[in-house]
Amino acid sequence: MLSLWVAAILLFGYYVAQGVTSPVSKVPGPWYTRFTSLWIKYQEFTANRRESVHRLHQVYGPVVRLGPNEVSFTSLDAIREIYASGGSGYDKTEFYSLFKQLNTNPGGLKSLNVEKDFEIMEELTYHQSLQKSLLAYYLPSWEPYFPTFLHPRSAPKTNKFVLGMTAQSHVEEYTLVEKLRRKESGLELLQVAAECKDHMAAGIDTTGDGLCFLMWELSQPQNLEFQRKLQHELRNTPPDSSLDSLVYLDAVIKEALRCSPPIPMSLPRYVPAGGRSIDGYFIPAHTIVSCQPYTVHRSCDEVFPEPDRFYPDRWLEDEGPAERNRHFFAFATGGRGCTGKK
Ligand code: HEM
Repeated sequence: MLSLWVAAILLFGYYVAQGVTSPVSKVPGPWYTRFTSLWIKYQEFTANRRESVHRLHQVYGPVVRLGPNEVSFTSLDAIREIYASGGSGYDKTEFYSLFKQLNTNPGGLKSLNVEKDFEIMEELTYHQSLQKSLLAYYLPSWEPYFPTFLHPRSAPKTNKFVLGMTAQSHVEEYTLVEKLRRKESGLELLQVAAECKDHMAAGIDTTGDGLCFLMWELSQPQNLEFQRKLQHELRNTPPDSSLDSLVYLDAVIKEALRCSPPIPMSLPRYVPAGGRSIDGYFIPAHTIVSCQPYTVHRSCDEVFPEPDRFYPDRWLEDEGPAERNRHFFAFATGGRGCTGKK
């Protein structure tokens, strides 16, 4: 019994000493985040992570410790280092395995008018199984023993659709499936299907949420002026004009994505071997580092004054367009940034 107590005390001492002496302990943040990641995990499970991280940045500044092995940043230098250094930046963490796909191709969906297509969209978008996926992610060895109601929702209709599309004998030349099926891609059919489904999952919610936020902003009484300016541009532009000539539309879209980025939360990456210095702090190898679009878009008053205000005209000001674009992080940046941006 005594040896058990001694072992427990030694373990506790080791744990505390690690929390106090690790380089991450020098990063500003709540004291308990030196010792435990339970706080940030709890925020994730209760869908409060983005707001909590934002509040911590408001209190502690541009660099904040979220747990003994996790740090969040907001500066442009940190974005460049984490997401764009050496091409594709640091490696993505296992968090992304939550979105692992069997596979899909959106080429054939005609959307909401066709019942079958609507069901597929519904299956992919209207569900709340992120908590269940998080459970499996944090407790992988327990996952096989989870009761059925804790299993993340599957998407059988979507899987069938994607596998069917991928296996067709003829596919149009302009499609993603056609490119991925070429011999030189070296992909198995199942991998092609998974890649396609990934695009479907990545493109539907993000675009839909973005448009939803945009419409909501434009519908607000205080934003009527912007709605009118947009109507004016759309009504007075010849129908065959290039989309690039719609500068006000571009400003409205960017401002909606700035205020309410569809992927607003931390985009986590691992610090490579040897550790790195980021924003003046040495961060050891394998620490999880990230920036979150929601906070990046609100953390530099000189670039985006009154950051919480929906104000599309800021994108048309003569001064500072390059800085605004550099701080626009809705699609992330670097080699692993959004491939659907254009
Ligand atoms: C408003 C619409 C969209 C927004 C705001 C958006 C945002 C993002 C962001 C922030 C990432 C980076 C995630 C990370 O680094 O952790 C990303 C990645 C990605 N996006 Fe989008 N996205 C949008 C639309 C689309 C569309 C339409 C597609 C495809 C049809 C797409 C395909 C992808 C793919 C494949 C990746 C992963 C790239 C990689 O890992 O290398 N996205 N997107």
